[in-house]
Amino acid sequence: MKSSAAAHPNIAFIKYWGNLDHDLRLPANGSISMTLGGLQTRTTVEFDPDLSQDSFILDGAQAAQESLRRVSQQLDLIRSLAGFPYKARVQSENSFPAGTGIASSASGFAALTVAACAAAELELPPKELSRLARRASGSASRSIFGGFVEWHKASTDEGSYAEQLAPADHWSLVDWVAVVDEEEKEVGSSQGHRLADTSPLQEARISSAAGRLTATRQAILSQDFATLARFAELDSDMMHAVMMTSNPPLHYWRPTTVEVMQRIRRLRSQGIPVFYTLDAGPNPHCLCPEDRAEIVQEALLKIPGVRRLLRAEPGGPARVLSEAD
Ligand code: DP6
Repeated sequence: MKSSAAAHPNIAFIKYWGNLDHDLRLPANGSISMTLGGLQTRTTVEFDPDLSQDSFILDGAQAAQESLRRVSQQLDLIRSLAGFPYKARVQSENSFPAGTGIASSASGFAALTVAACAAAELELPPKELSRLARRASGSASRSIFGGFVEWHKASTDEGSYAEQLAPADHWSLVDWVAVVDEEEKEVGSSQGHRLADTSPLQEARISSAAGRLTATRQAILSQDFATLARFAELDSDMMHAVMMTSNPPLHYWRPTTVEVMQRIRRLRSQGIPVFYTLDAGPNPHCLCPEDRAEIVQEALLKIPGVRRLLRAEPGGPARVLSEAD
């Protein structure tokens, strides 16, 4: 009753921000992302009838109580599907450092869901794994798939899951994550989703999301970088406008964040195809076609407040690991 799995994080081009139902994690709008190869979480789950409680070791240390609670909650769902009560030992490692603006909850809960289902001998198709991963962390529903992925909005648990739009080798893009601040964020995404409706701008963001989703989906399928750039930046700015105008407001940007955004726009005006997008943190993701990766890297490294860059490319789906892995 032991299995290991690996999953990659993802960067959203059309963002998930706000829920129709917080407990079920039914999102207020659909979202589109790219799975980030090169960065990953590996998780081992072992169900053991002799254990009296779940345990969770994260990056070599006992995980915080709140993280263990979230893991146990996801294991409860899987235990009820499998029809047994056994507690589990969970061990998880991230290949990327915490606090770099890469959401480890997406890769973490995708890997946990896939490993726990395999350990429980539940054979679920990817769509069902995606629905299940969604319950633990919305963005984890997208990390079940590789490449370019869309997560559907729905008013029921059955209807809200992610699907692949195009595989990883469809488009050679590079994502440079410009790390400008490595401190843990004060307000995490789960809390942020609950604040979204307090912003007077959230309604406008939600009611106009369908158009951005269509444009972004088409741009990915036809490899139209300029259109992807336009809608991804717009959508990121709209999400941050909602964050900044919620009650209490969430301000994630730092001075260097704004410098990077300006530099990216300037590069674009000089003819270099590149755009930025930001999650719930200060570290911009800067995306460009692979053949422009070095020019963008050099430009970002010249900005004094950029501490370091992480590189990612389109990656594969979450997968069960064999002994050999
Ligand atoms: C800003 O999936 O981390 O990265 O469901 O509470 O775990 P929970 O939230 P999470 O939210 C991600 C928010 C985002 C945008 C996105 O990835 O779509």
